[in-house]
Amino acid sequence: MDKLKVGILISGRGSNMAALVEAAGDPAFPAEIRCVLSNRPDAKGLEFARERGIPAILVDHKAHATKAEFEAAVTEALLAHEVDFVCLAGFMRIVSPAFIERWHNRLINIHPSLLPSYKGLHTHERALADGVKLTGCTVHFVRAEMDVGPIVAQAAVPVISGDTPDSLAARLLTAEHRLYPLALRLIAEGKAKVNGETVDIAPDAVDETARFFSAR
Ligand code: GAR
Repeated sequence: MDKLKVGILISGRGSNMAALVEAAGDPAFPAEIRCVLSNRPDAKGLEFARERGIPAILVDHKAHATKAEFEAAVTEALLAHEVDFVCLAGFMRIVSPAFIERWHNRLINIHPSLLPSYKGLHTHERALADGVKLTGCTVHFVRAEMDVGPIVAQAAVPVISGDTPDSLAARLLTAEHRLYPLALRLIAEGKAKVNGETVDIAPDAVDETARFFSAR
């Protein structure tokens, strides 16, 4: 079967991108990473991609007069690398409805909360202030409304007394690095399919899409 041809958009560290690249290094993985694109020249993740021989592209949003021009340049770069599916991985620009429509049901994101709780920024600060005992991360298809869209997979991690936003973020990040490759694999295998505003999971994959990670 042909592999899904994936482009990854980043803005910074790129550790989720790195997890996807590592997963795709397995010949059995059903997706290939065609390119990594950053909107920021100083994104650490670009170096990681370059070192692994993956095309690492800069499309600096500051070099474009409008969001529409910036996004047109992003799409052009992705198409030049024959991308047919896009993963947002710490891409810190809000994408426009036109971009989302262009990549309809071919655009996913990872968000550091159990959506629909804690949309937006400062998820860990808010979770700690509320005293929740579980938080987590979500991989979802992107829709025009921020942090809304058909949910592919979620992982939960415990919140522990004494946690700071940083300690919680670090615990969660290890879960993110396992969840994102899993979600992409299920989509590429056709085991996670958008059905309206939810995602249908194949019966043999159900156990994989709801994960719990213990504190230690
Ligand atoms: C990750 O925790 C990701 O969930 C979050 O940014 C971090 C990026 O880290 N994304 C968002 O907050 C999107 N709203 P990374 O660059 O090391 O993958």
